[in-house]
Amino acid sequence: MMTAFAIILISYGIGTISPAYLLVKLWTGNDIREYGSGNAGTTNVMRILGVKAAVFVLLMDLFKGVIAVYLGRYMGGEALAAMAGLAAVIGHNWPVTMKLKGGKGVATSIGVGLMINPFYVWICVALSIIIIAFSKYVSLASITAIPLWTVLLTVTGSPIEHVTLGIALSCLVIYRHYANIIRIYKGTENRFSLKTKLSK
Ligand code: G3P
Repeated sequence: MMTAFAIILISYGIGTISPAYLLVKLWTGNDIREYGSGNAGTTNVMRILGVKAAVFVLLMDLFKGVIAVYLGRYMGGEALAAMAGLAAVIGHNWPVTMKLKGGKGVATSIGVGLMINPFYVWICVALSIIIIAFSKYVSLASITAIPLWTVLLTVTGSPIEHVTLGIALSCLVIYRHYANIIRIYKGTENRFSLKTKLSK
């Protein structure tokens, strides 16, 4: 019991490390949360620092999910792996170290997903690329991909721990994209561009 609690706490702690925040702070001296969408994540880093920095942040955020699930699985099995993965995403979204204002948990959820069922993740990534290509909305891809991943897990009879994790991650991603959903509805959502760089 103590071990499980410790793993969940460590996973939350791993999630709180924000490469997006740290990179923009080191590079520009500014707080990423005051620019663009205000999100401490890959898409906003792309707007501010460009593609290479965004890819770095994506990989680092993804890695947090991978590590958390690995730790949970190694120390306690699938249920703990799922809880650790969820804790990492919660840490990423609501980091105590950043006054609870973190990211939207997409890359970290992808990392978690890769450790749970990579094949379905790649299906969702492929669909996301198509959605972004047609709509130019990264957020629309995010709020479609994670619920789709959950549907795939559910309809193929995956273990209950994995399905429950998928449902939790889907709820989190939709909740964290509330403002994006409103902007999509109003037609004012930021459109994805490889070129955009912000100045304030
Ligand atoms: O992963 C976050 C993405 O779905 C939306 O990012 O910065 O446009 O809110 P952003």
